[in-house]
Amino acid sequence: MEYLVFSARCFLFGVTSILLLSTVNGDVRYSVPEERKTGSVIGNLAKDLGINAKMFSVRKARLDVDDGSKRYCDIDMNTGSLTVAERIDREELCGFLTDCVLQYELILENPLELHRIKIDITDINDNSPAFANDVVELEIRESADKGARYAVNEAHDADIGVNAVQSYKLQNNPYFSFIFHNKPGQEKYGELVLEKELDREQEQEVRLLLTAVDGGNPPKSASIVIHVTVLDANDNSPVFNQPVYKVSLREDSPVGTTVATVTATDADEGANGHVTYQFGHLSGDVLKLFALDSETGNLILSGNVDYEKQTSYELRIQAKDGPGLASFAKIIIEVIDVNDNAPTIHLKSLSNPVPEDTPPGTEVGIINVQDKDSEKNRQIRCSIQGHVPFTLTPSIKNYFSLSTSGPLDREHTSEYNITITAVDEGSPPLSSSKTFHLSVSDVNDNPPVFDEQSYSAYVAENNKAGTSICSVTARDPDWRQNGTVLYSLLPSEVNGVPVSSFLSINADTGVIHAVRSFDYEQFRSLKVQVVSRDNGSPPLSSNATVSVFITDENDNSPQILYPAPEGKSLMTEMVPKAALSGSLVSKVIAVDADSGQNAWLSYRIVKSTDPGLFSMGVHSGEIRVQRDISESDSMKQNLVISVRDNGQPPLSATCSVYLLISDNLAEVPELKDMTYEEKSSKLTSYLIIALVSVSTFFLTFIILILAVRFCRRRKPRLLFDGAVAIPSAYLPPNYAEVEGAGTLRSSYNYDAYLTTGSHTSDFKFIRSYNDSTLPAGGTLRKSPDDSNIITFSDAGEALEVRNYIYTFVLLSLVGHFSTELIFLKIYLFIFITTILNHI
Ligand SMILES: *[C@@H]1O[C@H](CO)[C@@H](O)[C@H](O)[C@H]1NC(C)=O
Ligand SMILES: *[C@@H]1O[C@H](CO)[C@@H](O)[C@H](O)[C@H]1NC(C)=O
Ligand SMILES: *[C@@H]1O[C@H](CO)[C@@H](O)[C@H](O)[C@H]1NC(C)=O
Repeated sequence: MEYLVFSARCFLFGVTSILLLSTVNGDVRYSVPEERKTGSVIGNLAKDLGINAKMFSVRKARLDVDDGSKRYCDIDMNTGSLTVAERIDREELCGFLTDCVLQYELILENPLELHRIKIDITDINDNSPAFANDVVELEIRESADKGARYAVNEAHDADIGVNAVQSYKLQNNPYFSFIFHNKPGQEKYGELVLEKELDREQEQEVRLLLTAVDGGNPPKSASIVIHVTVLDANDNSPVFNQPVYKVSLREDSPVGTTVATVTATDADEGANGHVTYQFGHLSGDVLKLFALDSETGNLILSGNVDYEKQTSYELRIQAKDGPGLASFAKIIIEVIDVNDNAPTIHLKSLSNPVPEDTPPGTEVGIINVQDKDSEKNRQIRCSIQGHVPFTLTPSIKNYFSLSTSGPLDREHTSEYNITITAVDEGSPPLSSSKTFHLSVSDVNDNPPVFDEQSYSAYVAENNKAGTSICSVTARDPDWRQNGTVLYSLLPSEVNGVPVSSFLSINADTGVIHAVRSFDYEQFRSLKVQVVSRDNGSPPLSSNATVSVFITDENDNSPQILYPAPEGKSLMTEMVPKAALSGSLVSKVIAVDADSGQNAWLSYRIVKSTDPGLFSMGVHSGEIRVQRDISESDSMKQNLVISVRDNGQPPLSATCSVYLLISDNLAEVPELKDMTYEEKSSKLTSYLIIALVSVSTFFLTFIILILAVRFCRRRKPRLLFDGAVAIPSAYLPPNYAEVEGAGTLRSSYNYDAYLTTGSHTSDFKFIRSYNDSTLPAGGTLRKSPDDSNIITFSDAGEALEVRNYIYTFVLLSLVGHFSTELIFLKIYLFIFITTILNHI
């Protein structure tokens, strides 16, 4: 509670009803008599401030009082009324001051709003006048002249204004009348005036009753007996050298300080002239502060004065001589303010926590600073210590608004300790500071960020479904759910299949699992976008790329393309009897769907009819004659060849190659034996026609060639010297490209192929192939204008042609056909061979 002292300009005498005085600048002023019942309504704040009463509780309306002060009023949150909360005694609050004002601040939050409320406490006549003593002793010389005046101590009434003492009544008597000096702004006192000379011989003493009456309704009164003793001698009263003593006293003066010295002189001698000093009427509080030396007239400070409690004192002093003649004087003590109160800082309102997206310049709190001193000593400067993004700006009177001066970032600084220092302008200045805590609350302003923008993971093929492949991590510095990261895969397709059927991600941990087993031979890598999303609202997200590379395992055994695998068909190579050591006889061709080492093939002869006659190129698959063929060598040679890859563990495949050492197919009577199965076959007429046509075609073909070429004998050249056409039907769609002997390149991209199991077409020849894959010195080459026509590059030799036709016919007969036609084919073979031998 705080009360303010106003210079007595605005009197509110007689105002006993509640009165709204003003609502200027959001200030309201009420007037209420003291001693109202608790709960009485002083005024309706909601109405007078124009605020909806419902908003009072929403906006946390409250009255702020100074620390340590009593709260006399309260707010009724339902009605918005200001009510009396406890007994208000004006006399206790303000004493003799004429203006007694209670001052509050009404604080509303959201937005912060402040209204000042002043309540004038008006007086009621609840105190009677009182005299300091029951009896006043007066001693008056009988020689005293008519008209002489004798001061009498006034009666004291705690009430003020009309309720204070208004008049005195003196009992009817022949000697004295009573005058009451009661001019506003001047000292009030009463005087006995001698109306008729006293005669000691007639009357030695006079007793009079004096009654003081106040102006209340009803009035209250008090009486005192004035006992006048008539003196005989010719005495003089003491006389003060000054009627009023004015002194000033610093409020910090120590106990024992001599405040003033009063002096009165008495013209008499001896006991009649001995002057003693004493106080007139004084309240108990003041008596504790000052002591008067009755002999010397020194006024000594015996307590501590406080400017903030009372700024001036008026003391009535009486000087008395031996017989009791007295006179009065007054000491006025002005208390001088000393800067003895440090400012106090009150946090009136604070929005805590403050969201981090609060724009600079937003008000977050209201600070009230107070200093009980006066004038310069209560001028206060306020500042914030340290480097914090907040400023203080002066608001109404001694209020400061605390606002943000820069952007806040919870991820950088999540809380502030704001220290406010207040310094007054006294000398020396006093200061105080207060620290309060302000937290910054989170806003979802950071997306999750992946540790890396792209991740690579390697997984071996044939993995188990559910294997974890890799894990991704994204960080989000926001708080709680705003920083909780959830992972997911961005829907996409791999080869037309949703990516979710290949990979899955653990939403919480970011671990990526394989949903199925991968096959390197199907696809070698897949790329997927991973999304990390926080749980804020709205959520923020970011992407990263995960590339999964599937690594090869040796899970495919080599596949032999040529010769066709065992059990399916008969493959026979003709070897001329004149073949020299080193001549190429045939070539085994195999592929492996794996890659790298897993597809690096090596060829070995595991079994042969005549070991040492033929050798195998380990990586080329070429079968060569190891020594010159002699007559003693068996005509039929059988080789079993194994093809092995270089994987761990290695896989292999085997095939058989049948070699005929002969220059003439006719010399092969046992050829029939080489078929793996004899079956009775039926000749159908269209087959006969077909075969006759083929025979006729070959005959015509050979005769044509022979017609344009001349015959010259030479050492025979061997067929398939370094180049063998590979039927592409055996090539897997997607096998590894690895440099190395024995391994095919993907550029062997044939459209033509060997058919298996077809009854109608035994052999389709090459339509196109890539030149670059042929080793140098190849015997076959693609015609530049028409890839469908194969020409001989060196077709001048009949033998070569003959050999070629032999082999071709042989191939077409023993290729991939059904055994039903064997008989017919053998017939045709012998027929053609006979013709050729006669050329
Ligand atoms: C603020 O003050 C409290 C208590 O004094 C202390 O624990 C905290 O670390 C301080 N915070 C900052 C940001 O200085
Ligand atoms: C998350 O951010 C939103 C604003 O984006 C905010 O309202 C919410 O309070 C934040 N949550 C937490 C737990 O801080
Ligand atoms: C993430 O990917 C989606 C879809 O491609 C795209 O729309 C979005 O902009 C990406 N976000 C980021 C942060 O790259």
